[in-house]
Amino acid sequence: MFLTISTALFSAIAKAEMSSEKGNTVDDQNVAPWEPTTSSISKQIIVSQQPGYGNYATIQAAIDQGVPENNAQWIHIFNMMDQSMRRDEDDNKERIQAVAACVKGDKIAFIQCYFVSVQDALFDFSGRHYFYKYHIQSYVDFIFAILGRAWEPYSRVIFFQSNFSDVIVPSGWDAWNYAGQEYNLEYAEMGCYGPGANTSQRVKWKKQLTQQQANDLLGNGFINSDEQNQMNIVRGLVQDQARQRAVAVHVGGDKIAFIQCSFMSVQDTLFDDVGRHYFYNCRIEGYVDFIFGSGQSVYEGCHIITYLGDSDYSGPGYITAQRRNSRNDPNGFVFKHCTVEGNPKVYLGRAWGPYSRVVFFQSNLSNVIAPAGWVAWDYTGQEYKFTYGEMNCYGPGANRSERVKWEKHLTQQQANDLLGNGFINTDGWLDQLPIKLPHP
Ligand SMILES: *[C@@H]1O[C@H](CO)[C@@H](O)[C@H](O)[C@H]1NC(C)=O
Ligand SMILES: *[C@@H]1O[C@H](CO)[C@@H](O)[C@H](O)[C@H]1NC(C)=O
Ligand SMILES: *[C@@H]1O[C@H](CO)[C@@H](O)[C@H](O)[C@H]1NC(C)=O
Ligand SMILES: *[C@@H]1O[C@H](CO)[C@@H](O)[C@H](O)[C@H]1NC(C)=O
Repeated sequence: MFLTISTALFSAIAKAEMSSEKGNTVDDQNVAPWEPTTSSISKQIIVSQQPGYGNYATIQAAIDQGVPENNAQWIHIFNMMDQSMRRDEDDNKERIQAVAACVKGDKIAFIQCYFVSVQDALFDFSGRHYFYKYHIQSYVDFIFAILGRAWEPYSRVIFFQSNFSDVIVPSGWDAWNYAGQEYNLEYAEMGCYGPGANTSQRVKWKKQLTQQQANDLLGNGFINSDEQNQMNIVRGLVQDQARQRAVAVHVGGDKIAFIQCSFMSVQDTLFDDVGRHYFYNCRIEGYVDFIFGSGQSVYEGCHIITYLGDSDYSGPGYITAQRRNSRNDPNGFVFKHCTVEGNPKVYLGRAWGPYSRVVFFQSNLSNVIAPAGWVAWDYTGQEYKFTYGEMNCYGPGANRSERVKWEKHLTQQQANDLLGNGFINTDGWLDQLPIKLPHP
């Protein structure tokens, strides 16, 4: 079977009927831990060879005839193919060296699928793909397997917390046609185990990933269990020491959610640089520009605390310094259901870019807010370009009678755009987080 998937958005979910054939299933304990939510699935296609049972007899036919060109909807292909089509060591002899599946589209997830061949079983051609609980059977020769060889000069493969049997050859990796250029290859193993995971005889050029590289590659789902970084736990140690004016966290990736994290500094605490971000129930402390950058972010239920400590800084403080450079940039900071308190007094924000955009919505503002609210910084005379607003805030700091005259009164349309689900959740990524967000 040669499967080419070139639709724009597609989910091939072959939820194998589990456990009837022991020895071949991939950890069956947990059937369907990632059931698609039916609401997001536009169509379900059943593949079965039993006459009259499914929509198509092969996955190929399901792709070719069941998925429209340029599809942008989630389609669930439910694979009920005959069990004998899959696995079992002893059918190796019938296999030929051929690609079992060629994966070509962007954003494709395979859940509990089997890819079985002798050579080139899985052609992971291009696009972003996610394989969950998958099982690949393929041997170039029947005795040993090499973790990877370089098909192109910047080949990149990482195995993380994987279980290697002794099928892995001790040297691990092969530069193939790129001997002498191994420094370009990014091959790494992190936290693997099993007899094949002994790296003492691996090729010398195998990479040791830095923490940054590891986070970049593995970051989807990074969980910080260090109690120092939990909402509402501010250790005496941290609080007592003189804080430096420094960035605590720099967030530069797209689709990142922080749940119950603390960010503490005095100046430039949270560099919300670029990408769509969601901060839920977080604590953010600082005094000068302590939430700054070009991020497209929602801060929901966050606790924002002005804190200067024993810093010798004597100028005014600003919660935000949002940078938006054109009226078409989608970025901006939206604060929903937040609480702002502390001392000394701070402005809600100052403009780092000419189209700076910050909105506070249904937030509890203590008298820590400087009555004028906002500062134009280097854009005096161009204040009409800013989108600074407050909607339905309360508390002593929400009295707007002395605010700058150019604070915006948001139209219903602007409010909907910024406060609606579509502001950062355009492609539904927040709904697909593997944790359920407890909305306040
Ligand atoms: C690793 O996989 C082998 C089978 O290949 C299995 O017997 C063993 O229990 C696994 N080890 C762990 C820690 O899961
Ligand atoms: C790894 O392999 C080396 C040599 O092959 C051996 O000396 C060493 O004990 C092994 N380490 C482990 C943890 O098995
Ligand atoms: C607003 O926040 C203050 C703490 O700054 C708190 O005491 C007060 O109860 C809050 N108000 C509401 C209505 O939640
Ligand atoms: C808001 O502030 C102004 C002047 O600072 C004051 O006169 C007014 O009573 C305040 N409004 C409320 C609702 O507290």
